[in-house]
Amino acid sequence: MPIIHELSTYADERGNSISYQGRQEKGIRVKFTGSNNTVTIDPRARIESLIVDFDCNNGVLRIGGNDGAPPLRAAIRVGQDSVVSIGRNVSMTSVCAMSATEGAHITIGDDVMFASENQVRADDGHPIFDVRTGLRANPARSITIGAHVWLGRAAVVLGGAKIGSGSVIGYGSIVTKSVPNNCIAAGVPAKIVRRDIAWERPHLSLVAPFYKPDASTITKSSYWHLTEGPSRARGLGTRQLLRRVGTRLIHQLRRVRGSAR
Ligand SMILES: CC(C)(COP(=O)(O)OP(=O)(O)OC[C@H]1O[C@@H](n2cnc3c(N)ncnc32)[C@H](O)[C@@H]1OP(=O)(O)O)[C@@H](O)C(=O)NCCC(=O)NCCS
Repeated sequence: MPIIHELSTYADERGNSISYQGRQEKGIRVKFTGSNNTVTIDPRARIESLIVDFDCNNGVLRIGGNDGAPPLRAAIRVGQDSVVSIGRNVSMTSVCAMSATEGAHITIGDDVMFASENQVRADDGHPIFDVRTGLRANPARSITIGAHVWLGRAAVVLGGAKIGSGSVIGYGSIVTKSVPNNCIAAGVPAKIVRRDIAWERPHLSLVAPFYKPDASTITKSSYWHLTEGPSRARGLGTRQLLRRVGTRLIHQLRRVRGSAR
């Protein structure tokens, strides 16, 4: 079974192929067990670590280019007839595990930011059956993550989930269903905790200014939109509202004190 350790154009007699004409990247391992599996990587991709297991046949992996975002680090299993498609400027702080089998698709939009310890699993790895009917209880289901989604640390996305563009998934959350655009969803299972939000990549302590109390401190991306669909989430409670106002006042006080020194 061919195991490839460097990215370059490749084709074998079983119809497995890699299409890539970019610079040499380290930390690569692509394993072709079956046949007719294809990898297409944009020559401008930036990859720090990529482990791919094609266990079966007719799998497809696509990875988009990178215009300056942090690199991609992923361990990806692509099963029978399955497709993993990763957009442009998708970044990971540590290796993100992904799995798609039984014809499922994982589609990740442009500019998605994974934190660390994330997983995207369209399948459960092993079959579960209903004892009475013998039918499968846990078929693999496709996942779609829209453009410019931020997955907080240890957030997990499971089969059937769909996350709208511009949204944020909270620390340790598990997404099992649909999450609309431009909202924060958190918890297990993830539920909307805030609507009508936009997030940006500049880090709070690595990119000046080091207080960012409002949108004048960043360059707005094209992902500033109101959340679509009916609002089932409750609005800000009094406690949350007071906390927001308090945080803003504290930011302003600290800035004034800082500039007076
Ligand atoms: C979700 C998050 C962004 C905060 O969003 P927020 O709108 O400020 O949320 P609040 O703190 O006002 O909390 C709103 C509600 O969601 C709950 N909540 C917030 N984060 C949560 C989480 N990760 N899991 C479960 N519930 C969470 C709060 O308890 C609160 O519940 P309540 O309404 O019942 O009191 C933040 O908690 C988070 O998870 N950040 C991820 C950070 C991260 O992973 N960084 C990695 C570096 S890239």
